[in-house]
Amino acid sequence: MPTRITGTGRYLPKTCLTNDDLAERVDTSDEWIVQRTGIRERCLLQNGELPSDMGIAAGQRAIDDAGVSPSDVDVLVVATNFPDMICPGSAPFIAEGLGLGSTPFFDVTAGCTGFVYGFVVADGLLRTGLFRRALLVGTEALSRVTDWDDRRTCVLFGDGAGAVVLDRSDGDAGLLGAALFGDPDKTLLLHMPGGGTRVPPSAETVASGAHFLKMEGSGVFRHAAPMMERATHAALDAAGLALADVDWVIPHQANARIIDALVRRLGVPNDRVIVNLDAVANTSAASIPIALDEARRDGRVQDGDTVVMTAFGAGVTYGAVVVRI
Ligand code: ACO
Repeated sequence: MPTRITGTGRYLPKTCLTNDDLAERVDTSDEWIVQRTGIRERCLLQNGELPSDMGIAAGQRAIDDAGVSPSDVDVLVVATNFPDMICPGSAPFIAEGLGLGSTPFFDVTAGCTGFVYGFVVADGLLRTGLFRRALLVGTEALSRVTDWDDRRTCVLFGDGAGAVVLDRSDGDAGLLGAALFGDPDKTLLLHMPGGGTRVPPSAETVASGAHFLKMEGSGVFRHAAPMMERATHAALDAAGLALADVDWVIPHQANARIIDALVRRLGVPNDRVIVNLDAVANTSAASIPIALDEARRDGRVQDGDTVVMTAFGAGVTYGAVVVRI
């Protein structure tokens, strides 16, 4: 019984920042950012708005799209790296906002691969028979951990949330194959050194900017496309499918040059790849469900289509799922 996507939703903050807006703050330009990243603007949470608010809005849209109600959700899985609170995460706030009652909930932290990992986790939960329906939400408030004076990172990230309702399916639609990987040798390519229990918050950690996301851009760049290529092939092998059977590839929206490199390595036509990072930037674990919802609602991705979703991220983690919609 494959796990099927029966509803999708997304939410992006109302306030967006263009590259020209950013160039007023740091020494950069629209031309540099577009050429090196493909990003033109990003949406940012305003004061008082929370990652859980975005998750609630995206989750409600996915629930509406599935034609069910919050009381029909049996388990909530939230993929996020920067939750409302380190303890207890974002899931309880999203559960409360959606009115999920005593439905169980938890966060999954797996870098930008969080949605792909979360999909496999939710699928496993449904396969136990304990639950019939899961809500999987990816929500990220990267603006809260971005150093807005660091031009090497601040141009890359945006805020947003995406969600899917997952049901056990009797038909042939649903999750057909998956592959997850980790590479702990590369952990420091992307990390936030301060604020956890390894380097607890202190006046010094705040003063030194240890609570901002640190990234070794060229290291990430070098490994990202080969990792997503490997994951895509492994997930297709698990599904018993070939790239020729795939209608759409939805890669993690990190950087247009990384996506171009992946597309070249896979040898898939550009018009079979969903790309929206020009308008939303890199929203980490939210990027794939946001892109999926956009492509479903504008009619590109249709019922019966076979879709590969692949990501890499902090950890380092990487993976892919093959899903028939
Ligand atoms: N505007 C203008 N100049 C800049 C900017 C900027 N925003 N950022 C860096 N530069 C400068 C650098 O200072 C450097 O100048 P220098 O030679 O005088 O020192 C020059 O541009 C080249 O810097 P590089 O870091 O070598 O630039 P690169 O071509 O590698 O592009 C980038 C940087 C875009 C970050 C690239 O490395 C990249 O895309 N890496 C992948 C990062 C990524 O996608 N991360 C996603 C987050 S991780 C995730 O999603 C899991």
